[in-house]
Amino acid sequence: MKPPFKIGILASGSGSNAEQIITFLKPFEQIQIAFIASNRSKAKVLERAENHGIPHFHFSTKNLAEENILDRFEPYQADAVILAGFLAKIPAHLIQKFDNKIVNIHPALLPKFGGKGMYGHHVHEAVFNAKETTSGMTIHLVNEEYDKGAILFQAKTNIEPKDNPTSIASKVLALEHFHYPRVIKTWIDKLREP
Ligand code: GRF
Repeated sequence: MKPPFKIGILASGSGSNAEQIITFLKPFEQIQIAFIASNRSKAKVLERAENHGIPHFHFSTKNLAEENILDRFEPYQADAVILAGFLAKIPAHLIQKFDNKIVNIHPALLPKFGGKGMYGHHVHEAVFNAKETTSGMTIHLVNEEYDKGAILFQAKTNIEPKDNPTSIASKVLALEHFHYPRVIKTWIDKLREP
């Protein structure tokens, strides 16, 4: 029997996606959440980790840019890193360490509405202002360019005339909650195939 596949989750905010991932993956003993870490010491995601008994810690955004961040991760022996609303650029040393094993979720249909500054409500406002008739979410691998790694999965939602940036955000978040845990599970299963 293979050892469990371990993931680390990085998040900066509420962590509602992290919560969905934790709950969805719980029955699968072959996948373990080794740690949850945040670059915001008061992020709600750390409370969620505590409530689930998952090891968790805070690091500063400055720490992240330094190579010794790898020492903070080392004890948990993660095989992959999942970004769930993580609002800092992933540095080259982390990308090299987890080569093609960092996944991100973006609340729009990349390659549109991606790149620096395109996060949270900025994305939904840009989609609304561009009078798009659809939006959605993208799950992709992380490389050294913001929002440009290989796309694993996308899901769409229609934008109706009555929608506004807030309602678009909640439609997209519902898609994220449903699909992100499932796509992660499928991706890990593939990585583990003999
Ligand atoms: C999500 O929309 C995600 O796509 C974006 O930030 C939001 C995070 O929400 N990157 P939460 O912290 O998971 O609740």
